[in-house]
Amino acid sequence: MSQSEEIKSKLDIVEIIREYVPVKAVGVNFQALCPFHNEKTPSFVISPEKQIWHCFGCGRGGDVFSFVMEKEGLGFMEALRLLASKAGVVLKNENPEAYSQRNRLLDILELAGKYYAYILTTPAGQNAKNYLLQRGLTEEIIAAWQLGVSPGPPTGGWGELYKFLKQRPLSGRKYTDEEIFSAGLIIKKERASETAAPGRSDYYDRFRDRIMFPIFDVNNNLIAFTARVSPEKEKTEKLGKYINSPQTAVYDKSRTLFALNKAKNAIREKDLAIVVEGQMDAISCHQHGFENTVASSGTALTVEQVTLLKRFTNNVALLFDMDDAGQLAADRGIKECLAQEVNLKIIVLSVGKDPDECLKNNPEDFKKAVVEAKPMLEYYFTKITAGLNLDEVADRRLAEEKMLAMLAAVNNHIERSYWLTRLNEEIGTNEKELREKLALLTAKKGPRNASAAAAPTEKTAPSAVRRPGREEKLAELLLALLIRFPEFINYGAGNLEPQYLSDPGFVRFYNQLIIYYNKSASLDYADFRLSLATDQAEDTKLLDKLILLGEKDFYSYESGQVKTEIINIISELKKYGKQKKIKKLQKQLQSAEASGRTEELNALMDELNVLTKE
Ligand code: CTP
Ligand code: MN
Repeated sequence: MSQSEEIKSKLDIVEIIREYVPVKAVGVNFQALCPFHNEKTPSFVISPEKQIWHCFGCGRGGDVFSFVMEKEGLGFMEALRLLASKAGVVLKNENPEAYSQRNRLLDILELAGKYYAYILTTPAGQNAKNYLLQRGLTEEIIAAWQLGVSPGPPTGGWGELYKFLKQRPLSGRKYTDEEIFSAGLIIKKERASETAAPGRSDYYDRFRDRIMFPIFDVNNNLIAFTARVSPEKEKTEKLGKYINSPQTAVYDKSRTLFALNKAKNAIREKDLAIVVEGQMDAISCHQHGFENTVASSGTALTVEQVTLLKRFTNNVALLFDMDDAGQLAADRGIKECLAQEVNLKIIVLSVGKDPDECLKNNPEDFKKAVVEAKPMLEYYFTKITAGLNLDEVADRRLAEEKMLAMLAAVNNHIERSYWLTRLNEEIGTNEKELREKLALLTAKKGPRNASAAAAPTEKTAPSAVRRPGREEKLAELLLALLIRFPEFINYGAGNLEPQYLSDPGFVRFYNQLIIYYNKSASLDYADFRLSLATDQAEDTKLLDKLILLGEKDFYSYESGQVKTEIINIISELKKYGKQKKIKKLQKQLQSAEASGRTEELNALMDELNVLTKE
C-alpha cells in the first residue's frame, strides 16, 4: 500500500469534509451545501463507501486528497502532510527534494516552536516561566499551548535560534538562510557583511527575549508566532508589547484565528464561537472551560476569519475591549459578520478590563456575561441611543444616521425590517421614509457588501462554473442510470448509438462501459474503475460523478421506472441528434442551392423530408 492509500484507508472522508461544511446523511450518502460555490440547495454529495465526493452544481469532484487540496489551496505533498497527521501516519521522507517549500517552512516553524518551548524549561527561561505561572497559567496549560521563550540579550545572543536551526534540520538537507528568513524567523542585517567572515551571519533573530505564543492553523500546523515582551522590559521596550510573525507563505494574518485548532470541536458542539482579542485572553477562556474561544490577535475580524468560523457555527459572540480602540475593531468585525449573515452577539463585561482579568477575579461574572450576550443590533442600538437625548431633533437624526448605516450592512431582510420598525418607534419618524433612506444606502453599499459576502476567497474561487445544457444533462443521466442499473446496459446500447451522447468524453466512456460489461457480464465498480484508470483520468472522475449522480437521483428506482426513464431519455437524445442533423442538412442545402448543384440538392431534400417526418 502506498502512503497515500494508507492515509486514505485510515480516514473517513465524511469526517474530513465535515470539518469544513455541515453534512447530512441522505440515503447511503451524505449531502452538503457545496463549499466551492454558493448555493442554497445541496448538490454536493459524498459517498462514504467509495470515499469520493462530487458537486453537481459546479462539477468539482474527487477523493479526500483533492478535496483538501482544493479547499486549502495546497499541493499534493502538502495535503499528504496534513492528512497524514490526521490519520496518525508518519510520513517516510523518501524524497526530500519533492518535499515542497511550504512543508520546509512548516518544518522550520515546528522546530522553532519546540526550541522556544524547550528554552522555557531551562534556567534561561526561568523568569518567563515564573511570569506565566504568576499570571495563573498551569504547567499543563503551558505545555498544551506550547508556550515558550526566545533567548536574547541581556542573557543570550542575537542569533540563538538561527544557530540552532542551521545545525539541525528536521528532515533531509539543511535549512538555508533564505528558508529560515521566509519562515519569518530572522531579519536581514541592514549592513550585511560583504565578506562573510566564518561564523558571522547576515541575519539576526526576529524574536529575542520574548514570551512566545505559537499560532497554529486550523489543521494544527505551527504557522507563526506572537511574542510578548518579557516582564522586565515591559516599561522600556520600544518595539511594543507584542510583535508578530510577518506575513509569510504559510501565514496570512487575516485568514488565521489564534486557538481555532483547539477550539473548533467545542465551537461545533456548543454551536457558538467566542471571539476575544488577546492570546492571553483566549488561553484563559480555555482554562476556565470556555473552550469555544478564539482570538483575533488584536484586530477587527476579517471576512476570511468569519468564513473560517462559519465552517463550525453560525453563531459568533464578540468579546472585545470596550475602550475606544477595541470598540473600533469590534465595529469593523461586526460589518463583516452581518454581511455574511452570521448571528452575532456582543458580550459585555461589567468588571475587569479584559476577559483574562475578569476570569481570574470574577469567573461567575464572566459566565453571566456570556449567557447574557446581546444580539449585536440590540447592543448597538442601545449603545447609540444611550448617549443621546431622543427628545432633541439633532440627536434623533444622529441615531437614525448611525443605525441606518449599520442596517445597510445587514443582509437579512427580516432583521432589517424588524430594526426599521424599532428605530421608527424610538425616533418617531415615518417608517416608509426610513425604508427608502435605507434602500438608498443599501443601493450604494449593496453590491460591495453582497460581493464581500458572496465572493469566494481566491483559493476557493470556482473556475467558471460550467452549466451543462439539457442535452448534455440527459446524456449524463443516461450514463448514471446505466452505471447504477448495469443490467440495462445492453438495453440502452441496443437502442442508442454512442454518437448521440453529445460529448466525446461521454462517447468514450459509454463505449468502454459496453465493452467492459459484455466481457464480464456484470459491473464491478472497482474493477471497472481500474480498467479506466490505465486510460484517462477524466474517465475515472466521470465514473465517480456518475455513481453519485445515480445514487442521488435514482436511489429508490424500481426496474420498471428505470426502463421508462431510459426510454424517455433515449428518445429525447435522438430528437436532439436529429435536430442537429436537420440543421446541418439545411446548411448544406443552402450552399448546394447557391452554387447550383441540383443533383446534390435533390438528394439532400429527400433526406431532409425523411428526417422531418420522423
Ligand atoms: N497586540 C499586538 N500588538 C500590540 C499590542 C497588542 O499584536 N502592540 C495584539 C495581541 O495579539 C494581543 C492583543 O492585541 O494579545 C490584545 O492586546 P492587549 O489587550 O494590549 O494585550 P493583552 O492580551 O491584554 O496582553 P497582556 O494581558 O499580556 O498584557
Ligand atoms: Mn490582558
